[in-house]
Amino acid sequence: MKTIQLYLLPIAFVVLILSSGCANSQKGNGDPEEIIQLIPMPNKVKVSRGFLEISSGFKLNFAEVTTDIENNLISYLESTSLNISGSGIATHLSVKHPSSYYYSDEYYSLSVNKDGVKINAASEAGLFYAIQTLIQLVEQNPDKLPYIEIEDSSRFAYRGMHIDVSRHFFSLDFLKKQIDMMAHYKLNRFHWHLTDGPGWRIEIKQYPALTNIAAWRTHSLWKEWWASGRKYAYEGNPNTYGGYYTQEEVRELVEYAAKRHITIIPEIEMPGHSEEVLAVYPQLSCTEKPYTSSEFCIGNEETFVFLENVLDEIMEIFPSPYIHVGGDEASKEHWKKCPKCQERIKKENLKDEAELQSYLIRRIEKYLHSKGRELIGWDEILEGGLEKSTIVMNWRNEKIGIEAAQSGHKVIMTPGKYTYFNSYQSSPEKEPEAMGGFLPLAKVYSYNPLPDTLSANYIENIWGVQGCLWTEYVPTEEHAEYMLYPRMLALAEVAWTNPENKSWESFKYRVNRSIPILQQKGYNTFTLSKEPEILMENDSLNKAIAISLSSEICPVEIGYTTDGSAVTSRSQLYESPILVKDSAILKTQLFRVGTPLGDVLEKRIDYHKAIGKKIEYLNPYNRYYPASGENSLIDGLHGSFSHGDGHWQGFIGAPFDVIIDLDETDSLRHVRINFLQNANAEIWLPKEITISLSNDRNGNFELVATFNNSIASDKSGTFFKSFEWNGSQQARFIRITATINPAVRGWVFADEIVVW
Ligand code: ACM
Repeated sequence: MKTIQLYLLPIAFVVLILSSGCANSQKGNGDPEEIIQLIPMPNKVKVSRGFLEISSGFKLNFAEVTTDIENNLISYLESTSLNISGSGIATHLSVKHPSSYYYSDEYYSLSVNKDGVKINAASEAGLFYAIQTLIQLVEQNPDKLPYIEIEDSSRFAYRGMHIDVSRHFFSLDFLKKQIDMMAHYKLNRFHWHLTDGPGWRIEIKQYPALTNIAAWRTHSLWKEWWASGRKYAYEGNPNTYGGYYTQEEVRELVEYAAKRHITIIPEIEMPGHSEEVLAVYPQLSCTEKPYTSSEFCIGNEETFVFLENVLDEIMEIFPSPYIHVGGDEASKEHWKKCPKCQERIKKENLKDEAELQSYLIRRIEKYLHSKGRELIGWDEILEGGLEKSTIVMNWRNEKIGIEAAQSGHKVIMTPGKYTYFNSYQSSPEKEPEAMGGFLPLAKVYSYNPLPDTLSANYIENIWGVQGCLWTEYVPTEEHAEYMLYPRMLALAEVAWTNPENKSWESFKYRVNRSIPILQQKGYNTFTLSKEPEILMENDSLNKAIAISLSSEICPVEIGYTTDGSAVTSRSQLYESPILVKDSAILKTQLFRVGTPLGDVLEKRIDYHKAIGKKIEYLNPYNRYYPASGENSLIDGLHGSFSHGDGHWQGFIGAPFDVIIDLDETDSLRHVRINFLQNANAEIWLPKEITISLSNDRNGNFELVATFNNSIASDKSGTFFKSFEWNGSQQARFIRITATINPAVRGWVFADEIVVW
């Protein structure tokens, strides 16, 4: 028998998967190369020639497995599609930690050959994951399994998915359905965002107003509720929106998840994001009045009585060793003015309100520790100092998480830039309204929670990685699935598969094959972007912009033109990077066997006069949005729909005001600047833009263009607008200013100033 060497460590794997990628995927089932469609990709796989007929199902034979494990597995398998009832093929299962392996407790091996199926796992969880792999193999090869040998183990111990049920409420059945899929892709933590200003979602017997009132609001849609003063209402009032889970329901979900080796980590927000609690128990806020504050009063002992009582009930229901207490985005303004908070600061010898927040976190952590639990909080909790025992969940810049790991904290990485699934996954104008930002599948897949720069001493502190779904703009369960899938599959591979065994081309192929399976199972998955992705790079050697085109969908053809003509199925097909040495209008579209798949995408590309020249900032760009630094506005590369993509530069406070120096006087005929608007992120197109030219940096600049922008600052959605001067003038210096409407607080985001 010929063996195809497919040991997944490194090169052989990549070669095989690439060659079996999108280009060849018209092959019929049965080719061994078609078989490796598993997600997450196991860490070691060998496929051999040969197949095992499985039409008679699987006959399980447990050896060295406790009765408990056996019963748990059989009861779980009854809820799956795996046929274990027939006379079936011999399937040996054992649970025994392999002595020679450094692998984690989630290790399993799985082999399929002429004698049947054999699984050994290091633990019950490992056995469960072996079964998930087997289920995927059967789904993809329903009649006969390829001969295969897998040895596999997780990269990260914490592999999480978060769902916000406060902004919009989702049913228990919906959550069970998502837990099924999380387990199928080997995720093992469900972070349940149960409380937040838009609604409290869990029954607490000692505080009935949390669910009689704080769980219900006057409007279901986020924007309408905000525009109407963000009020709560009594349960049962006409037209209220909301809901909550009874303790009995929560127990049911906890048990359901545990059977699938998923720990549910509840999040109870404190001290901020607590408007709903303070509306019904206003005595716990600094003002003692409802609808005035989002933060608990930390000077008030009653706050701690409340929080500990709530946590007691939470710990009663959730066996999770970890309790998430939020800690993000707390305003410190009320604490500054509150006599009780100031008294607490004095009495406890605290430096400021940041330390006051830490006082609360430390005190709650101590309480949780006294009950045998550990505390997790969002990364803002670092700001006033923390015990080393505290687990930090990093959602802002990844640097914060890495530094926390270096200072000894256990860290869960969920940086918004890579893991917030509330962002757009394709062009905003073609998608339902989202929170903003742009997070296509490839970006999720590209995330590496363990940067090479992290020294080996701290690697263990990066506990794992998580995806988050915030639901301000996710009003329905169908929409939630649309945002979760297939990005959750990319996250699963980030969390499970070692980087040397990951390959975007391979994943893309597998995810394309997984989408119909998800749909068959009733998941409303996003079916991948129908637009080509345009990547631009500055090729300074050739003095050109190099354009690469790619697509999430495969197999596909990518047609394009650069001369302004219409793109059709007969246009040039993309094969390798296109160089634009001056100016071009790129038109590109996806086709499958000659039929267009989506709309034409059009982009102006310019290798223009200002590239590589100097730029002076009369008011600096904001340090949190530097793009790639000083040259970002004149590097020939344009920002995408995400203001955090490394191309858009952010300005706040003082007006945008820059001077470009072209080194020598030149004949100018065109100056253009592009701005972004994303109302949800408080990024506005400027109100007034000016362009001035001069031959002398310190002399008079001649104003050549003024634009009074007419797009209303409250217009929703994410879009760009460019402003351009066309004329004929000699000049060396170009000054551009932009101011926003003083009536709106917020940002100006600029990218690329094009000069011809
Ligand atoms: C967060 O996104 N505020 C944790």
